[in-house]
Amino acid sequence: MSTERGEFSSRIGFVMAAAGSAIGLGNIWGFPGQAAQNGGAAFVVVYIILSFIVAYPVFMAELTIGRYSQSNIVGAFNIIEGGKKFKFVGYMGVLAASLIYGFYAVIAGWMLSYVFNAIFTIMGFNEIAQWCIDSSSLLRNISFMGVFGLLTMYIITGGVKNGIEKWSARLMPALIIILIAMIIYVSLQEGAMKGLAFYLSPDFSKIGDGKLILSALGQAFFSLSLGVGTMLVYGSYIRKNENLPVIGALVTLADVGIAFMAGFLIIPAMFVAQASGVEIYAADGSLIAGANIVFQVLPELFDSLGAVGPFFALIFFALMTIAALTSSISMLEVPVAYAVDDLKLNRKKATFIFGFTIMAISVVLIMYMDVLFGLVVSIATQWLQPIIGLLLCIFIGWVMNRNQVLGELKQGYPEVENSFFYKIWPWFVRVICPVLILLIFYTTLFG
Ligand code: TRP
Repeated sequence: MSTERGEFSSRIGFVMAAAGSAIGLGNIWGFPGQAAQNGGAAFVVVYIILSFIVAYPVFMAELTIGRYSQSNIVGAFNIIEGGKKFKFVGYMGVLAASLIYGFYAVIAGWMLSYVFNAIFTIMGFNEIAQWCIDSSSLLRNISFMGVFGLLTMYIITGGVKNGIEKWSARLMPALIIILIAMIIYVSLQEGAMKGLAFYLSPDFSKIGDGKLILSALGQAFFSLSLGVGTMLVYGSYIRKNENLPVIGALVTLADVGIAFMAGFLIIPAMFVAQASGVEIYAADGSLIAGANIVFQVLPELFDSLGAVGPFFALIFFALMTIAALTSSISMLEVPVAYAVDDLKLNRKKATFIFGFTIMAISVVLIMYMDVLFGLVVSIATQWLQPIIGLLLCIFIGWVMNRNQVLGELKQGYPEVENSFFYKIWPWFVRVICPVLILLIFYTTLFG
């Protein structure tokens, strides 16, 4: 084992870091946006079910493989008996993590640009403030992505305990406080109740649509950071005396809980915006979705607040940037851990090499935004993540030695063999999750 490997210092340290990874733009923006578009509470229900029956078992597979092998997604297949044939899965994971980090840093850069827009507006520098959010400026897009990338690299060079854990433990409480404060504020505004009703009333007619289920599954995988080796490598940094099924469940609950909570911010905020004159329905009568929620509707809402507007904008976009940062570090950690464990590079060097290489990918994505961006997002998140998740299930369920799996879970949970968890989880990773994932692909392709 490389001496460069780290370890989380405590259970709470791991929970903060893993929740920090899981809770990101996917929760605060992706989830509410999808819920608004896909039948409100109907989507929420499907999402919660899939999170627990498909995503949680895959999450447990990653944690177990990681902690057993004490390695990253590539190295694990070198170490575990029978893994050689699955090594391509490891490389796919490193590729997927890099692509996801590549586009995530671009979006996170935009969040950061709105933080600076608010700061310059407050200071009265209106021209610079305007430049910060000029989406047509390549220089603007590249600079903010670059600053965000450097922040991520800075944290990653600090290592597991003094980088990932320390910053997650600082930033996650801040995120939760800001989120709650904003929910309270928004719910007191005119129009909020209309948004609440929209969010909580289910339109079940949308569930029959295979696309809804695929979106919900993709969202669940993305939100729990699965299928690229993030949770696998985080698992490798958990102490042996920790109870994996329990901390896995805690992180899943935190992730689903924050997504659900964010719905109480974003959807009511859209209707508050409407009450103050902002258009929230697109030309075809559907609710505005995707990037336009965050970069059009909400900024217009902040503008309508007058002098306090920039302060609210500052707080909101700081929330988004923090959420993004604790997630982006977990993406960069995938290739970095591979380089440290298997290529024997030191952490700083590994961070520089991968950090800057992926930055180059981000630049390409910015330059060819129209053709490339959506394509890379869908290849990485709708295809690579679930396929790799499926292969990890097959590996732990059918290839890896049962006693090794059980032995790993027993560390930190000696009675696991007789638990409800162990009665059903092996069947989930062996059969149920793979079949569900395949079924969902089938419906999307041929349904
Ligand atoms: N889960 C994070 C979010 O919701 C994003 C994320 C972090 C991620 N690490 C990942 C997504 C690995 C996919 C794979 O924003």
